[in-house]
Amino acid sequence: MPPQTALSSLLNQVGQPGLLAHWESLSTPSQERLAQQLTSFDWDQIAACRQLAAARRSGQEAAMPLDLSTARTPPCHRLGEATAAATAATARGQKALAAGTVGAVLVAGGQGTRLGFDGPKGTFPIGPVSKATLFEILLGKLTAVQRRYGQPVPLAIMTSTATDAATREFLTRTNSCGLDPDQIFLFCQGTLPAVTDNADRLLLDAPDHVAVAPDGHGGMLGALAARGGLDWFKARNCQTLVSFQVDNPLAMPLHPEFLGHHLLSDAAFSTQVVPKLSPEERVGVVVEQAGVTQVVEYSDLSPALAAERLADGRLRFFAGSIAIHAFSHQFLEQAAATDDSLPLHIAHKKVPYLNDAGQLVEPAIPNAYKFERFIFDLMPLADQVTVVEIDPAEGFAPLKNPQGAPSDSPETVHQALVAHARRHLAAAGMTVADGIDVELDATTILDDDDLRRPAAASSLAGNRIDKPLVIRSG
Ligand code: UTP
Repeated sequence: MPPQTALSSLLNQVGQPGLLAHWESLSTPSQERLAQQLTSFDWDQIAACRQLAAARRSGQEAAMPLDLSTARTPPCHRLGEATAAATAATARGQKALAAGTVGAVLVAGGQGTRLGFDGPKGTFPIGPVSKATLFEILLGKLTAVQRRYGQPVPLAIMTSTATDAATREFLTRTNSCGLDPDQIFLFCQGTLPAVTDNADRLLLDAPDHVAVAPDGHGGMLGALAARGGLDWFKARNCQTLVSFQVDNPLAMPLHPEFLGHHLLSDAAFSTQVVPKLSPEERVGVVVEQAGVTQVVEYSDLSPALAAERLADGRLRFFAGSIAIHAFSHQFLEQAAATDDSLPLHIAHKKVPYLNDAGQLVEPAIPNAYKFERFIFDLMPLADQVTVVEIDPAEGFAPLKNPQGAPSDSPETVHQALVAHARRHLAAAGMTVADGIDVELDATTILDDDDLRRPAAASSLAGNRIDKPLVIRSG
């Protein structure tokens, strides 16, 4: 541990002497904890955060709206259309899966504040019948891919200090949800401290701890590189990496047609989108302008632009981003080697803090800025970006909000999963009685081909399902 004088001088230099306010009353282990945190900070980065906070506070940042006058939605492949291009893409994607050259990154470091669940979001039970957790469903899909193509899909799981210990414990308890532990690379993303409203100070949330938060899903790039994840994938010959989020149990990151469009177009970055239907939907959209493709956040789109429609009635900016991306490994390696590939984003939030009397205050209104990086900000750096539109009923049911919320809640996700299962069972010739919950087992049912296999059929009593059931394939 550095001597107190060295810490004081460091903190004076960076304008944060108040962080040692409780030093004298701390035990030695607590002093060590605080000293360790303070000396591990990247103070240049914190200075950049404070600058951004100052710009936001003074209104300068908001004074530079994006000029999207010549922007358009880029051409999109539509997943599942009966075209020659789709057939070729599917064959190409299947070839990559059979060759074992595809790896996956699951980002699961978020704090899940809106959901308010006690534990990492990945451990939330969401299977409509099985009550399988998000992790079990999403990791189960990798088992199904491995069964079909005979090759494991190496998986990196990103946690944060908020989710790491509980995620490790969960994976141990569930035997890695059926995956080989050697197939999983667990890594923890970084954090960034919160900055007070006046852009001045960092906050303590305990006498021996500065208030920090995970550095956003974009933290994936730096953390994956720094913790050896990119090398881990390279050693397993993964030339393509797909990333997806822990809160979408319908996610199809390994869909062969999606992978095939990515590979056949020689894209550095490909992304799945769903049609944005109403201008008010709070979703980022993929736009292309002067040859550069990027995601524009809903807050950066004026109401007038957001409401503009094309001749066919679709919104001009309809390509809603759902955070399922494919990258070439080489592209991620190059981006990771470049400092500041990803800009900082700022948000005004409620951050608990210790007041001058040393009491923890839970603010009722936002009191500080938090900072994050977003992985989609890599898009403009890619020479070729390929966009694939999917049907949300097939691949997008995010869990964001608590029970009872009108959207993205456990109930709406439940309904989406059951409707998805009923639709596919109907296509395979089964009837499901009204009001009955059914679920497709993630580990054995990849697509409709699995539903036509005899074991799936024999798990049904004839062609009619009249009680809640998890359908498995042989
Ligand atoms: P969200 O931005 O929806 O955040 O994350 P969240 O933590 O799930 O929920 P709120 O906003 O606190 O209510 C989208 C995805 O990105 C991951 C999340 O785990 C989720 O899979 N994520 C988010 C990270 O991995 N790290 C982060 O720092 C933020």
